[in-house]
Amino acid sequence: MKLTIEYSNKSILNNKLDALIVFIFEDLGLAGSGLNSLPYDLKNNLDTSIKLKVFTGKQNKCLQLFSAYANIPQILAVGVGKKNEMNSESLRRAAGTAGKILNSLKAKNIGFSVTSHLQKVSNTDVGQVLVEGLTLGSYKFNKYKESNDENLKLESIKLKCFDPDNVTSRKAIKTGKMRADSTNLARNLGNMPANDLKPKDLASSAEKIAKQHKMNCTVLEEKQMKKLGMEMLLGVSQGSREPAKLILMEYFHQKAKQTVALVGKGVTFDSGGISLKPGRNMDEMKFDMCGAAAVLGAMEIIGQINPHVNVIGVIAATENLPGGDAQRPGDIVTAHNGKRVEILNTDAEGRLILGDALSYVVNEFKPNAVIDLATLTGACITALGHYACGAITNSNKLMEQVRKAANLSGDRVWQLPCFPEYGESIKGKYGDLQNIGVGDSGTIIGGMFLEHFVDKTPWVHLDIAGTAWNVKHIGYQPNSGATGFGVRLLVDLVQNWEPI
Ligand code: BES
Ligand code: MN
Ligand code: ZN
Repeated sequence: MKLTIEYSNKSILNNKLDALIVFIFEDLGLAGSGLNSLPYDLKNNLDTSIKLKVFTGKQNKCLQLFSAYANIPQILAVGVGKKNEMNSESLRRAAGTAGKILNSLKAKNIGFSVTSHLQKVSNTDVGQVLVEGLTLGSYKFNKYKESNDENLKLESIKLKCFDPDNVTSRKAIKTGKMRADSTNLARNLGNMPANDLKPKDLASSAEKIAKQHKMNCTVLEEKQMKKLGMEMLLGVSQGSREPAKLILMEYFHQKAKQTVALVGKGVTFDSGGISLKPGRNMDEMKFDMCGAAAVLGAMEIIGQINPHVNVIGVIAATENLPGGDAQRPGDIVTAHNGKRVEILNTDAEGRLILGDALSYVVNEFKPNAVIDLATLTGACITALGHYACGAITNSNKLMEQVRKAANLSGDRVWQLPCFPEYGESIKGKYGDLQNIGVGDSGTIIGGMFLEHFVDKTPWVHLDIAGTAWNVKHIGYQPNSGATGFGVRLLVDLVQNWEPI
């Protein structure tokens, strides 16, 4: 389905629409939700359903109704909960819930009003938040479905935003659409099966985005990585026939005083290697490039909003397979920064490829801050489930900025401790380091391994293993598959950057 958004600063009346979406507060009913002036024939059924408490305006509840008003035959009422409990994230979720059923309305021309009643509940422009939610909610991954499905046939929907009180703006609506579209790009990349999305495909994706938005893009090949001494990355890649790629995208702003690097884990399939994973749910390891997808999605937006900070997008892309050349447990490799690392488990590959990527970026670009995103540990799902990613950092100042961006975007972040004792178990027996520790707190240990490769650069590691796919009960997230987690978080971080 293709969704287009239009903006009008006129009233909804005198328009012919196939359907109208109305947002209704639980404690205020129709009048308090700014819908009193709608024609009686349109409101009638809605009024009755509220009076009979069939529809109460509870957060995320929807009701589909039909009206006798010829110009607008269908209504989708969406509950946004109690007014004083509202914020931009709950509004985004409610809009997402509506977005999920847009297709089944069988309507091509759908309107919604941004009333002044919604204005004060959000710390972000409400128009932007609503469009973000609606567009994210309507996402479906249908690339591999038969095209004779009725729902798939209904190909394009036009969504019209009416803003008679100037609560939002044409620009905000466009911004919301752009943010959702790039998040959906990250979802598409995540959902692609590993036979159709290889490291080279991540590279061409980056090249395409860079070209569209006038950024530099360089792809380092294995030969160059060898020269640079990236044995950790190459060691992971050597079990696969697909060559690894180290992808670098550079966004520059003339007035920028600082540079931020965004580094994503791009394992297009993680079988575990010789330390092979169990068969159950192994298919989900096609999602092991969702960190990379987040960086790509964010760079696509950054190229359009021109923030006043330089941004380097970095993707370490490889497969982790157990081919005849695969690395063995016990192998010792030399990292880009010279540290010797003993591989005790080939399935702890994310930290290896990211370690080399991080060391390279901090040396080559001397960024003021680095954020990495990775589906790094299953342990993170045990620790935090699906409703916050885990964070490890060496800089409280940077962490504070990440936290603010998390609150703005709805991509939640939860900091984990990194007391020195946690790092003891990755000190090497035969090398300087080993790639797994002993005992529990695997997410912290994985993060602290990475810390050895960032020098003193302020750094935040985000373990997105739990938030990158299969997140239920959030209105704008699909019930299964990739979420695009991190795209809007990174954009909000970069856009509101405060020099550190
Ligand atoms: N990509 C996985 C982490 C993962 C597993 C994410 C399941 C989401 C769901 C990562 O490469 C991995 O295999 N990590 C190991 C680390 C262990 C060997 C120390 C893990 O979590 O089991
Ligand atoms: Mn692994
Ligand atoms: Zn992995």
